[in-house]
Amino acid sequence: MDDLRKGHAAAVPPGAVLERVAIEDRPALVATFARAQPDAVLHFAAFSLVGESVARPDWYYHNNVLATLVLLDVMREHGVRRFVFSSTAAVYGAPEHLPIDEAAPTQPTNPYGATKLVIEQALPWYEAAFGLRYVSLRYFNAAGATERLGEHHEPETHLIPLLLQVALGQRPSAEIYGVDYPTADGTCIRDYIHVADLAEAHVLALAALEQGSRVYNLGNGLGFSVRQVLEAARRVTGHPIPAVERPRRPGDPPRLVASAARIARELGWQPKRPTLDEIIGSAWEWARRHPHGYATRCSSP
Ligand SMILES: NC(=O)c1ccc[n+]([C@@H]2O[C@H](COP(=O)([O-])OP(=O)(O)OC[C@H]3O[C@@H](n4cnc5c(N)ncnc54)[C@H](O)[C@@H]3O)[C@@H](O)[C@H]2O)c1
Repeated sequence: MDDLRKGHAAAVPPGAVLERVAIEDRPALVATFARAQPDAVLHFAAFSLVGESVARPDWYYHNNVLATLVLLDVMREHGVRRFVFSSTAAVYGAPEHLPIDEAAPTQPTNPYGATKLVIEQALPWYEAAFGLRYVSLRYFNAAGATERLGEHHEPETHLIPLLLQVALGQRPSAEIYGVDYPTADGTCIRDYIHVADLAEAHVLALAALEQGSRVYNLGNGLGFSVRQVLEAARRVTGHPIPAVERPRRPGDPPRLVASAARIARELGWQPKRPTLDEIIGSAWEWARRHPHGYATRCSSP
């Protein structure tokens, strides 16, 4: 289910059925559940732009909290008790210790992280009262592409696709926000995880629901600075990718790096594509074949 307010019908794989449904639309949701009779729900639909969430917290509370509560109601009414939730590293805010593990304090510094945390906090109560089984997956920075599927947001705010747009000649330069952070090269450090590794974690999480509810970080455990990402993008694309230095953005912590030790230990998950060259290389392959994202006719299977 996706109402395509941000998504792309062309991204739906052959064999899957797309239901154009807004998840806050209870009658449409009820009709879809009655027709599809799902065993489980993997819930990705959300707004996820930090800056936008600060300007329009109302949009974020409506879409990330209210709509999710409608979805949980309809699941309960249809006896669907298995739930995998897309949460985020933004629930942690500015961490005191690195790498961040799941026991770290959750102190979001923006409405986006706060709205995801509201749902995470509701889930144990739904479990106690209604027998809902859930896994909350706190993703760090999703990146990379598969042969068929890549990243296409409007507006694009993620670093790697922005750098690739410069390499494609669609932007004159990239921007680096803050070069005076207390890091080796002065730029922010983030944890990038390949989207195919994320997908594999969802399959494991779904199977593990039988053994109980839990919360997992999903990251590489490897932090890369903005300059390291820029250098890797230059290396992969062979393009000079000019970059303009800008002041820091408010609320950007210097370092966010995950410990994914818990999911490694409990479910045996390991990122298989951890290097920047693999992550950026796969995104570049897709971007070259789809220079206008999903508006480009697929030239691959
Ligand atoms: N991309 C990341 O790095 C990242 C990191 C942490 C968490 N997440 C979470 O992962 C999930 C997916 O993120 P993404 O980057 O693919 O975002 P996205 O915007 O590309 O995908 C979200 C999809 O949900 C749909 N949608 C939104 N609200 C809806 C609603 N009310 N009803 C029906 N459809 C709706 C949109 O049309 C879109 O296709 C989100 O929950 C996000 O918070 C993403």
